[in-house]
This record gives sequence, C-alpha cells and structure tokens, in this order.
Amino acid sequence: MKEIMLILLNRIILIIFISTVSFSVHSEETNKNYVKTNWSFKGIFGTFDRASLQRGYQVYQEVCSGCHSAQHLSYRNLSEKGGPEFSVEEAKAIAAQFEVEDGPNSDGEMFTRLGRLSDKFVKPYPNVEASTAANGGAYPPDMSVLAKARKGGADYIYSLLLGYEEAPTGFELDEGVYYNKYMSGNRIKMLAPLSDGLVEYSDGTQSTTAQMAKDVTTFLVWAAEPHLESQHRMGFKVIIYLIILLTLVYMSKQKVWSRFGSKVEEEEETFDKVERAVTEYEGEDPKTFK
Ligand code: HEC
Repeated sequence: MKEIMLILLNRIILIIFISTVSFSVHSEETNKNYVKTNWSFKGIFGTFDRASLQRGYQVYQEVCSGCHSAQHLSYRNLSEKGGPEFSVEEAKAIAAQFEVEDGPNSDGEMFTRLGRLSDKFVKPYPNVEASTAANGGAYPPDMSVLAKARKGGADYIYSLLLGYEEAPTGFELDEGVYYNKYMSGNRIKMLAPLSDGLVEYSDGTQSTTAQMAKDVTTFLVWAAEPHLESQHRMGFKVIIYLIILLTLVYMSKQKVWSRFGSKVEEEEETFDKVERAVTEYEGEDPKTFK
C-alpha cells in the first residue's frame, strides 16, 4: 500500500512538472502549411523586433492604410513601451501628418486640425459601407485585431501576403478577384498589395516583398496584442514559480514519507526486542506458543 502511494505521488509530481515545462516550450506551435519565417515574438522569451515594428508601421501607413483602418490604435501607442517605441517627439510628428476632424467650435461648426498623440488612427473611409462600396463589394477588415481574429495569426497573414499566384488553368476568376493560395476558396478581392521596392526604408533594409510582409505582419501582431511582451514576462515568472513550488512539494513529500518509513522500522525493531525478551524469559521460541 505504502509503495503504491509513493509511486503514485511521484508520478503525479513528475506529470505536473513535465506538462509545465512542455507547455512553456510548445505553447505557440506553428502550422506546417504556412510560409515559414522566424518570429522574434514567439515562445515565452519572445519580444518584438523594434526596428521591424517601426518598418511595419511604415508599410501599414504607406500601403495598407489606404484601404484598411486600425480603429483601436492611437498615435500615442506608437511611443509606448512594448511597441514600436518611437520617441514621443517622433510619434507627435507622425500624428501631425494627419488631419483630424474636431469640434464643434463655439460657432457650432466642425473643423479640421492636425493630429495629436491622443487621436485614434485616421480611417480611410467614414464607415464599413463606404469602404465596401469602394472595394468592389469586399470589406477590407479593420487591422487593429486582425492578427488575432484570423486562424493562423501571423503565419496566415504573412503567407497570404506572399501567396499570390497565377490561377491554375480552368480556375475561373471574376473581374477584381485574384488567386491566392492561402485565402479560403483561393479567391481574394484584394490585389497583391506588396511588390519589391514599394517602400523606401530609412534604416537601409532592403524592401523585398518578403521583408515588407514580415515587418507589416509583426506590426499587426503588436496592434492586436500590445501587451504581448509583458504577458510573456509574466508567463515566464509563473513557470519559474510553478517549478519552485513543485520542487518544494517534492522535497516536503520526501521528508514526510521518510519519517513515515522510519517509524515503521522503529515499530518493527521494538517488536523484535520484545520478542527477544520474551524468548529469554520463557526460554522458548515464541513462534511455537500455542
Ligand atoms: C486597395 C485596397 C487595399 C489595400 C491597399 C490593402 N488591402 Fe488588404 N484587403 C482589401 C480588401 C478589399 C480585402 C477583403 C478581401 C476579400 O474579402 O476578398 C482585404 C483583405 C485583407 C486581409 C484579410 C484576408 C482574410 O482572411 O479575409 C488581410 C490580412 C489584408 N487584407 C492585409 C493587407 C495588408 C497587410 C495590406 C498592406 C500591405 C493590405 N491588405 C492592403 C483591400 C486592400
């Protein structure tokens, strides 16, 4: 009985330990069908590549923002910790590139002014209907949570941007519809948005299609999960805490059970002593008592 319980306890501790470690290692597995690339933000130690986030903002701004809004982002987010971390001055300058409607003023009139840090990202269209009408009946989804909303997340978006191909023979495509390997049904109403050299990076990085796709995807993952870095730090602390806790549980279990074991031995010893004393007194083997 004692052995079985000991084995069981050891097994339970071992299983919890293994699952803790393997959970932390495999928590973000990638699907093999997507175009492979290394994301710096994956895994429990993952952090965003700042330069890539800044370039990603540039791609979003110069290319995607013509059709896609990012309504949950504010210009001040661009200078916050854990994001692209532009300086506050840079973020102010970025905001000031846009005109924002404000008001009403004291005459009851709406007016436009330059953007401020507290403003939300300017939208390309006033509402969903207008953007759908302008894009051949397809709505360019808002980008602030897109990386979380789509199954496959970063890998999906990255692959989609690189997944434009000639349609196989016999595959009918209507006007304004394009063939994409990764879009469901392989039909997408978005013309391939990226092509080599489309933007000019100020840090000297070559703006190949793959590079821009990677940068803008990184930016979109941050937009959808702005606290990812602090969550990873917290997750790491939790794992360390669990490992320490499990070690303590294991050690105290060893201690408790060793005491239990020695007590049994003590009892056996006492029994032996009594047995011997009785034998001496009776002058007989106690086992033959009737
Ligand atoms: C000319 C307008 C336009 C531009 C520019 C544009 N898109 Fe789109 N995008 C669309 C439209 C329209 C759709 C909807 C397509 C559909 O549903 O068939 C879309 C859909 C998407 C989707 C979602 C696909 C899905 O799973 O539904 C992603 C991701 C995407 N765009 C990324 C980008 C990125 C990244 C950029 C910038 C590099 C960009 N788009 C630039 C118009 C545009």
